[in-house]
Order: sequence, then C-alpha cells, then structure tokens
Amino acid sequence: MNNQSIINEIRSKIDIVDLISEYIPLVQKGKNYFGVCPFHNDTNPSMSVSREKQIYKCFSCGASGNIFTFVSEYENISFKEALHFLAEKVGYKLDNIKIQSKPNINEKYYEMYDLTAKFYQNNINTTAGKTAKEYLKKRNIDDDIIKKFSIGFSLDKKNSLIELLTKKGYSNKELVDMGLALDDHDVYINRIMFPLCDISGRIVGFSGRIYGDSKLNKYVNTKETPIFKKGQCLYNYHIAKESARKKGYVIVMEGFMDVIRASTIGIDNVVALMGTALTNEQLMLIKKLSPNIILCFDGDNAGEHATLSVGTQLQNIGINPKVISLGNNDDPDTYILKYGSDRFFSLVESAINFSDYKIDNLKNGVNFQSDIELSNYVDKVIKEVSSIDDEIRREIILKKLAIEVNIGYNTLEKRLNKYISDSKVIEPVKRTENKHLTRYEKAVNALLYNMMINPDAVEICQKKRVCFLTAKHRYLANEILFYYEKYGNVNIADIYTYLSDKEELLALLNEIIKTEDYDCSVKAIEDYIKVIEDYNMRQEIIRLNDLIKKEVDPIEKSKIAEKIRLIKIGENNNG
Ligand code: UTP
Ligand code: MN
Repeated sequence: MNNQSIINEIRSKIDIVDLISEYIPLVQKGKNYFGVCPFHNDTNPSMSVSREKQIYKCFSCGASGNIFTFVSEYENISFKEALHFLAEKVGYKLDNIKIQSKPNINEKYYEMYDLTAKFYQNNINTTAGKTAKEYLKKRNIDDDIIKKFSIGFSLDKKNSLIELLTKKGYSNKELVDMGLALDDHDVYINRIMFPLCDISGRIVGFSGRIYGDSKLNKYVNTKETPIFKKGQCLYNYHIAKESARKKGYVIVMEGFMDVIRASTIGIDNVVALMGTALTNEQLMLIKKLSPNIILCFDGDNAGEHATLSVGTQLQNIGINPKVISLGNNDDPDTYILKYGSDRFFSLVESAINFSDYKIDNLKNGVNFQSDIELSNYVDKVIKEVSSIDDEIRREIILKKLAIEVNIGYNTLEKRLNKYISDSKVIEPVKRTENKHLTRYEKAVNALLYNMMINPDAVEICQKKRVCFLTAKHRYLANEILFYYEKYGNVNIADIYTYLSDKEELLALLNEIIKTEDYDCSVKAIEDYIKVIEDYNMRQEIIRLNDLIKKEVDPIEKSKIAEKIRLIKIGENNNG
C-alpha cells in the first residue's frame, strides 16, 4: 500500500464528528452537526461538520477540511504531525511515511534555542550556578522542578553564550536578531533562566530572573523575533493542554512562578499571562484549552484589575469564567507555600462566578448617600445581572439588591427585563459573503465540487474533455483526475489530504466548499459543463477576433475568420 492509501485508511477509521466533539461541543441539526468554530473569534455555532462527507466547514471564517487539517489547525502543528497523532490514535505506526512538508525556515533557530537552554541547564549544576540554585532552594524549588521546567542559569560572564553559539556556526547577527546578544555581549548575564515555549512546546525564547539583591529589572524577556511573539504565548500552555482536557478546566494565573508552584501540588492544567494585557490570540488560546476557566490572579489591586479585565474579555466571547480571590496581597505561589495544597484546592472548589465577582466589585467606591451614584450603581448591577442565563440566580441577586438599596423589586425587574429584551436582538450570523460570482464562475466551482464527490462527474468531464480556462482551476481538475485514475474513486475528505502540500489548491478548495448546496444531479453536471463550454467558446472567439485585427496578411485573416465561422456553427449544432 502506498502512503496515501494508508493515510486514507486512517482517515476512514476516525469519524470526524466524534473527533471534533472531543474538542468542541457539537449539536445535530438535520444531517449535519454544528458547533462554535475554534478558528476565529465567535460565539455562534457557525462550524458545520458533515458525517456523510467527513469534512467540516465554517460559514463565518471559511475554514474547511478533514480530520487531519482540523487537528493540525487546532493544535497548531504541521499536517504531518497531525497525521502521526491521529495514526497513533488508531494504532498505526507511521515511522517511514513520506509526506512532503515544507522545511521550516526557522528550524535553525529552534536548534539554537535548544542548545542555549541545554547550556543554561548545565550551568545551574556547576559551581558557577551554586548561588542561583541556593536562591531557588530557598524558594522551595527543588531539583525535580528545576528539571521539569528546564530552569537554567546564564553565567556571570560577558559573552559565554556568544562564544558557544559562534563555535556552533551561528553568526553574531543571528544572535542579535534572535534576542540572545546585544552587539558583543550576551543579553542574559547572571540570571536564572526560564525557557519560554510556543504552544507546541518548542523553546522560542527565555525569561531571565535576577536573584540576590540586584537593582536590575526583575525579569528580562526575549524580544519579539520571527518565532517569539509575546502576545501569542502563554506560559505552560503545551503542558496545560493535556491536563486541562483530562480535568475539564484550566486555571489562569499571572506569573510563571505561580504556575511552577501550582505544578508542585499536582496542578498542571494552569497557564500564566506573563505580565501583559491579554491579547486576542491569548484569549483564543485559553478558550481552546477548556470552556471552564478559573482566574486566579494576585490578591492585590493589580490582580483585581486583571481579574475584571480578563473576565470581561472572556464574557465578551461567551465564556463565564470563575474567580478565586486570594486577598492579603498573596499571589498563588506565596498562598500555596503559606497555607498548603488542601487550602488551595478548597479555593478551587469554591471559586465564584465571574458575574457575582463583578457585581460585588461594583460596590467599590460608591457613595450610597448620593442619589446619582446610587442609581448608577443599581443600573450597572442590573445590566450585569441581565447577562446571567440562569433565571433563579437572576431573581436571587435582584431580591438581595432590592433589600440592599431599598428599591421595590418590581421596579428593578422592569429594568432587568428591558436589558434582557435589548440583548435578545440577535445578531445575524455573519457569513463571509462570497464575492458575487458570475454564472460561469459558479459553474466552474460546482463542477469541480461534483468531481470531488462523484466519480461519474469525473468520467463525464473526461469524456467531454472539459477545459478550465484559469490555471488554478485547471490545476485542481488535473489533480482530481490524477487522483481518480490512481485510486479508482474520489472522496472529498481524502482529497484534502492529497492536496495538503499545495497551499494554492487548498485555498481554492476552501473557496469552493464555502458555497453550499451545489446541485449534484447528472442533469446539473451537464448544465455546468454546457455553461463552461459556452464561455470557453466565447472567449476563443474574442481571442480570434483580436488576432484578426492584428493580422496584416489578408490570407491569414480569412483563415482566422473561417475558424470563427466553424466555431459558431459548432456552437449552433451543439445548442
Ligand atoms: P510577578 O512580579 O508577579 O512575578 O509578575 P512572579 O511570577 O510572581 O515571580 P516572582 O515570584 O516575583 O519571582 C508576573 C509576571 O509578569 C512578568 C513575568 O512574566 C512574571 O511572571 N514580568 C514581571 C516581567 O515580564 N517583567 C518583570 O520585570 C516583572
Ligand atoms: Mn507574582
């Protein structure tokens, strides 16, 4: 069996509805299943999954594909990695499978960071790293944790890393570009080093912490490079991924010391924000980890602020997180050290809803003697209550509020109902409008679609020698024909695999899939072909007329005119 056949076999053993259900909840409507698309920012169920065709597509962002593309996009891994991952799931070993994948131009830099991390890790176990290690020991970070998080140490020397990496063949410019050197000296000197990983676990940068009494910045992070974008990074994401899926929730903290401490009490389903405002990309990443999110930020003002802003960002994408308040200026790291794991776990158990947290918070700083401030406060609370789905909870909160501010329940309820009906104005699902296609363009897409799902359509096209005038359509048609000749069948889910290293064709495939409900009857196929042939003929006549204009030789001119006449006769005979 060749590779494609093995891959097709693997594909046929994993049902796409079952697979995608492991990632996002799907609801059946008619023949298809629907869920919230994980590939763009959305709360509407715009992704449809077809059990019959074994493909998915999103009406809103236009993503489409088969099981392999789904996993590759979702996990942000290459097509090949997704293949291996799913092969293993059904008990296949794909050791020597040859799937073309473009070599990663950044491979060299990943290797550079790996080398650097190993160097730092080695340093921390030498005498030069003794003080740094003692500092970590004092903070209750033992050898096991040092190993688990690959913590290291950058020597107290001007250019030890430059020396090492230039010996390995990297240029000084590369070191500067990748944030490891500044001119002739190392960026990280005499710091405890924490490797930062991208979402698939590759080291893409570092954060270096001072120890002892240094007046320098506490942490220095690698600058933005082609492979390190701080706004797309969450500390511990690649480890939290597995664990969050198993435990069914994820905890978000502020600092990576917090994450490291949490891991010592068996909490691996945790990520850290790394001290910046949450970007949209990070928001989507957290949402991917689990719909059940617990915010556990520092128990100071800044932490409270972060809780409110991150919580609101999550609410805006349809997620209601829970909140743990530590208070007392503790961060999760110090809290766990002070009070132990049991108390921390009971905090996790009793985490409150973000909406309750927010409502509690609205009280802060309100002067209840002022009528205006009081009415503003009441209004804000009611607005917040209107976003709660649970009727009973809404009533409970409103009753408490009525007593608290001494306003009649009915008055409050009237306002609440107004907000609820306002928010019920449902936004229509935004579809990426297909730019208006001509009859010809529609026929081309429809015919190619039919060729991918129906071997008869391929046969008809072959027999009629259908010709596509645009290069990319011709290219796709040829690939489908080739596939058909080789495998004796066509199947749209497998064609995604077949085209996996041809970006241009995959984009075209997405474009074609976007339009729904092509007519797939034999009659329709013949109609599409007719539209295409007519169009081709008209284009040919236009071309020949141009030629006539340019031709000076009268004999040649009449030859072309004769050609045009024959085409026109042919057209009449056919039509
Ligand atoms: P914290 O100051 O809370 O750090 O900042 P921490 O993780 O608790 O570390 P320790 O316990 O003081 O050693 C939270 C996060 O903000 C980022 C880091 O990612 C840190 O984990 N940060 C903080 C910086 O990037 N630079 C800084 O100078 C400080
Ligand atoms: Mn902290």
